[in-house]
Amino acid sequence: MRKLIYLDNAATSHFKPRCVKKAFLKSLKTCANPGRSGHKLSLKNAMEVYKARETISNHFNCPNPNLVIFTKNCTEALNLAILGLLNSNNSSFDKKHVICSCFEHNSVLRPLNYLVNKDLIDLTIISPSNNKNITDVDVKNFIRKNTFMVCLTHISNVSGAENEIENIGKLCKQKNVLFLLDCAQSAGHKKIDMQKLNINFLAFAGHKGFFSPQGIGGLVINSTVLPNPINYGGTGTDSINLSQPSSPPECFESGTIMTPLINSLNSGIKYVEKHFEKHNKKVENLTGYLLEKLTQLETIGLIKLLSPTDVKYGVVSFNLNNYDSVEISSILDEKFNIAVRGGLHCAPLTHKFFNSINTGAIRVSLNFKNTKREINKLISSLKLISKNKKIPTN
Ligand code: ALA
Repeated sequence: MRKLIYLDNAATSHFKPRCVKKAFLKSLKTCANPGRSGHKLSLKNAMEVYKARETISNHFNCPNPNLVIFTKNCTEALNLAILGLLNSNNSSFDKKHVICSCFEHNSVLRPLNYLVNKDLIDLTIISPSNNKNITDVDVKNFIRKNTFMVCLTHISNVSGAENEIENIGKLCKQKNVLFLLDCAQSAGHKKIDMQKLNINFLAFAGHKGFFSPQGIGGLVINSTVLPNPINYGGTGTDSINLSQPSSPPECFESGTIMTPLINSLNSGIKYVEKHFEKHNKKVENLTGYLLEKLTQLETIGLIKLLSPTDVKYGVVSFNLNNYDSVEISSILDEKFNIAVRGGLHCAPLTHKFFNSINTGAIRVSLNFKNTKREINKLISSLKLISKNKKIPTN
């Protein structure tokens, strides 16, 4: 069997640092329910969870650790922001208007579409005028009197292009519009300062750029407007009351939270911060190298790039000849042991925009553990597949 070449880090990071594994095991060994029973071990767990909130609020410069809400993933965090803020009846007179882009993941498109179907919001889905990324000019044209929120992805999970967040944040602040940023692909790869960038709600996943196990993410809030909870139940606080308490973070975190995952995430973020410049420089260099090689294949007509040639954060998509991307990804996996993601990447409107809805795309996503050698293997495998040469079986 060939050695695994893992190029699917935008779906989940395969590499987990030793400190993350250690934090997970240690937490399993000292596990108790945080914020419930009040005995020593329970309090110790509650303190660890609070420390993780502090790490996250410092990392994103969120004003208050209690406005770091743990969720099971980025999707759940986005659902909390979108449904928590918008799933309530207004008269059609004051129906809220929301702007998102064609680059959104289904974790944004589906809850928004649900609200549209319930006639609760007006939705405008914008496309980039420069064919590449969303700028403040694209957003500005569509802001209305009743625009309540702009929901955007920071970095497209298909093309890897970065939207112009700084100017969009300024615009939202100027126009008094809330700004929700989906950082599924940017957290850990970019320094994100919520206060400086005027981001009101930030959703992130732990298992991608922060190297934690799957099952943990969060919504970080920098806003006086809070969502309504979307889950109800035990919070360990105000138990006499049949109504959900109103103070964060407990009001959003009904049920026992995932302490071992939270401790692993805390450790993963510290690891990322410690190696931030070095690791992200490496990813940027590798992305440049991959793009150079793919551009050569494009010049000879073998592939078609979807990504712009100046992306930096490891995510690059393309198609080989006009083959179905899932089929080519399966060949890469089965014959060459190269893991990439084909298909639509849960982002159907992005593929409509790139005219790749029928083929999907082959997405390569790198992290700092990848090497030029692995990229060379990918390139030679693509050449072999395209020439339909006899593909070696081991
Ligand atoms: N959202 C993840 C991806 O883009 C799973 O692959």
